[in-house]
Amino acid sequence: MIIGVDYYPEQWDSSLWEQDIRLMVQTGVKIVRIGEFAWSRLEPSDGAFDFGWLDEVIRLCSSVGLGVILGVPTSCPPLWLYEAHPEIIQVGADGKRIQTGIRGHRCINSPVFMEHAKRITLEMVRHYSGNRSVIAWQIDNELEAYPCCCDECKGKFRSWLTDKYGSVGEINQAFGNSVWSGEYSSLTQIEPPNAYPKAWQNPALCLDWYRFTNDSLISYIKEISLTIRRELPRAMITTNTWFCQDMPDFYRVFDELNFVSYDNYPPIKLPEDPEEFYSHAFHLDLMRGIKEQNFWVMEQLSGPTGSWAPMSPAPKPGMIMGYALQAFAHGADAVVHFRWRTALFGAEMHWHGILDHSNVPNRRFTEFSELCKIASRMNVLDNTRIVSDIAILYSPESEYAFRVQPQSEGFWYLEQLKAFHAAFTAFGANIDVVSPDTELSDYKLVIAPSLYVNNRSVTENLYRYVIKGGTLVLTARSGVKDEHNNCIMDTLPTVFKELIGAEISEYDPIGNSEHMIRDFAGKEYVCREWCDVLQPTTAKAYAEYSDGFYRCCPAVTMNRYCGGVAYYVGTICNSDFYESFAANLMTQTSIPKLKGLPKGVEVTTRTNGKDEYIFFFNNSDKPASIGLPKAMYSIISSVGKDKLELEPFGMDVVRK
Ligand code: GLA
Ligand code: ZN
Repeated sequence: MIIGVDYYPEQWDSSLWEQDIRLMVQTGVKIVRIGEFAWSRLEPSDGAFDFGWLDEVIRLCSSVGLGVILGVPTSCPPLWLYEAHPEIIQVGADGKRIQTGIRGHRCINSPVFMEHAKRITLEMVRHYSGNRSVIAWQIDNELEAYPCCCDECKGKFRSWLTDKYGSVGEINQAFGNSVWSGEYSSLTQIEPPNAYPKAWQNPALCLDWYRFTNDSLISYIKEISLTIRRELPRAMITTNTWFCQDMPDFYRVFDELNFVSYDNYPPIKLPEDPEEFYSHAFHLDLMRGIKEQNFWVMEQLSGPTGSWAPMSPAPKPGMIMGYALQAFAHGADAVVHFRWRTALFGAEMHWHGILDHSNVPNRRFTEFSELCKIASRMNVLDNTRIVSDIAILYSPESEYAFRVQPQSEGFWYLEQLKAFHAAFTAFGANIDVVSPDTELSDYKLVIAPSLYVNNRSVTENLYRYVIKGGTLVLTARSGVKDEHNNCIMDTLPTVFKELIGAEISEYDPIGNSEHMIRDFAGKEYVCREWCDVLQPTTAKAYAEYSDGFYRCCPAVTMNRYCGGVAYYVGTICNSDFYESFAANLMTQTSIPKLKGLPKGVEVTTRTNGKDEYIFFFNNSDKPASIGLPKAMYSIISSVGKDKLELEPFGMDVVRK
């Protein structure tokens, strides 16, 4: 397992480079990411390239065997370029060009920007193509589905709509523009969804705009990655992604790229709400699921965060190491810490790296050095992966559509995915979080919460899975919208009615108020946010409402369909329901359960097909002890153990 650091040589006096790199290597760092913001240093004026300084840094890295991830610096065009070509600057929702002076101001649809972006990329790739120290390339930085509204973007959006629908008449039809005299009589009337108030936009227009901004992003990534590949066909290319406001469609973003990398900033302050406890592991599983392959962490928590926001507390003892090992436990093969040393200058001077401003090794550095040592003992995990019986499906389009139209107070799409994830985590199960298009036949159990926007191939995928014997769980707000994000004149859950063997006779968006449900065993659970009142056709009730005007009506159903089983959970509950439901589902699908794990302990398994390695991570601030069924060899402490004593945020990894 590999530990790395993010390093910004352009921000430090060159006299520090050698000692920095020497200390990195002494500490056990194996890779370093460089360059992703350094365009103004690499091309100080139009067409004049200066790689001298970067050559020197890379030479120093090579001399000590450090691998380099080179960032293509396209997120930060130099100010001379913005000045010469203001048309490459993004335009905001207010129709005005945004003010330059921070980062990421470029419009990725601008041909002039693209020309310069491809030119700097090509120069870099040509210059470093023979350099064996450069092990991977990072395109840009934390790309979002950018909502730029410049004339170029608007024009491209209009053509995108014409390509998709044919004519203005068909666009009107798809968007239902007879509402509020919204009919377009010419393409020039089509605007991005920015009218005031924003929440009153046409949801169909919003979803197509989201699709368009994703397509723009993807063609940008494609062009830059092709520029690299033309020179270096075997280059390993990635981009570092994250969970953000304008979240792109991760599955499509990484289609063109070799591997996923993720900026991993787990919570320093543990959530007070126990319902949120496991959510971070969920993010890691989602990242692994994007390409259904191991991934890298390209930025990892290293110190107190903050700068534009008040600073966070310092990571508690154990967190620097524990959170990095947690990423390995969920399929990371490399964890690169952001950043080697805290900046003295610029907006992020209080977003701390491993070393403080002083450059004097501190508590976090000591823990990081220990992490490097442990990671180097984990080579047996090379070429291991996570194999899961359970999949949770994540739909970027449904998530986006819910963001456009919140369903009820407190209703949050990702919360349901996390609630199921937490429930299976409590039993030590490996869980994949994957796209609804994924081939599902190898899973014993598939959870598909709130597939809100219909997609024919996804619907067919789910039917196929159940017909062939799979066990599927659907939840409230499934099948609600057609592919344009419009409602459907049919009983809910429309396309899934037959599969679940039930219809929704009424729904009650109860928001933050509460009701109760009672399961078949007589156990009661609180439910909230949403209540679907189910009327079974062929299904049986798994749980019924025990109060309210739909008392005694089914809230959760189970239906045998062809060779498989489809459950439907028509409401949203607290973790106690999901845990008991998960336990039943696992029993029925013969998925092994670990019982009695201390609260907060996460267990995952990586395998190479022969050996299995079990990770025990104490994701809590209290010590935990875990008895093993037999003595197992710990690859962290190199001894056999039949009991694990884990400090807060402590990890042990044993061979099964
Ligand atoms: C992101 C960015 C980094 C830096 C960090 C810390 O992950 O990619 O460049 O800004 O956040 O704020
Ligand atoms: Zn634009």
